Amino acid sequence: MSLTLTLLATTAGLLVVFFWWVRRNNVAVYPAGRAPAQLRSLSTGCELGTALLAASTDTATSGTTGRQGGTATSPAPAKAPKRQKRHEGPSRRDFLRFGLLASMGGTLTAFAGASLGFLWPTLKGGFGARLDIGSEADIAAGIDEGGGHFEYPAGRSYIVAYDPAQDPNGVYAEITNGAPFMALYQKCVHLGCRVPWCAQSKWWECPCHGSQYNRWGEYQFGPAPRGLDRFALTIEEGRVIVDTSTVVTGPSRGSGAPLDQPPEGPHCTGA
Ligand code: FES
Repeated sequence: MSLTLTLLATTAGLLVVFFWWVRRNNVAVYPAGRAPAQLRSLSTGCELGTALLAASTDTATSGTTGRQGGTATSPAPAKAPKRQKRHEGPSRRDFLRFGLLASMGGTLTAFAGASLGFLWPTLKGGFGARLDIGSEADIAAGIDEGGGHFEYPAGRSYIVAYDPAQDPNGVYAEITNGAPFMALYQKCVHLGCRVPWCAQSKWWECPCHGSQYNRWGEYQFGPAPRGLDRFALTIEEGRVIVDTSTVVTGPSRGSGAPLDQPPEGPHCTGA
């Protein structure tokens, strides 16, 4: 949307500049096939330019000669000066200047709008920013209430319990930073559907094409190329902070993802 506005404003600006240039240089623009016959017969741009130049020179010369001839032979009777039409309102030049300034202003405004739209999530603390999602105690209680997960829609994240004892190689140490939680991105890594929690199996099961991930979002089944992506999470002064500005790629299939969790009940999707 913002890009469209920018393009429209830029196009309008270019058109105004073009017409201003045409008027300023007295260039005649003819629709296709409507040029005067003497111009149509000219085959090249050089001939056209030469003809236009010659025409303008002739006009200037004849004007001068006419004035001189008039002085030498018979002076024309003095004519009463023509009454100039009084022109109310802005001149054409002022109008074009105003149009140019307006289009530049429009372009700048559209650019500012696009930039603001891009930065807005960060400025207002939505997805794309570092989010304070609650106290450590509240998140732990939320995970219990959710039967193993806590959903934070504004951050498009799920929070699950993380036990470093189940991750002896520290595969997720960098994104959990010593916290007892891990933050998963809700978006399926296959084609981007939101992956819901299956309360029976306690896995993540995508309704679109059936990809399945265990509680830590590790790939189990289906067309997904890897486990769910995730976000870095830290605990700062008792508050749980999820950094949604950077998506951390999930573990690839067969990478020896550490959680050994068979489904704890029937699946919610086909498999
Ligand atoms: S989008 Fe989830 S399996 Fe295709």
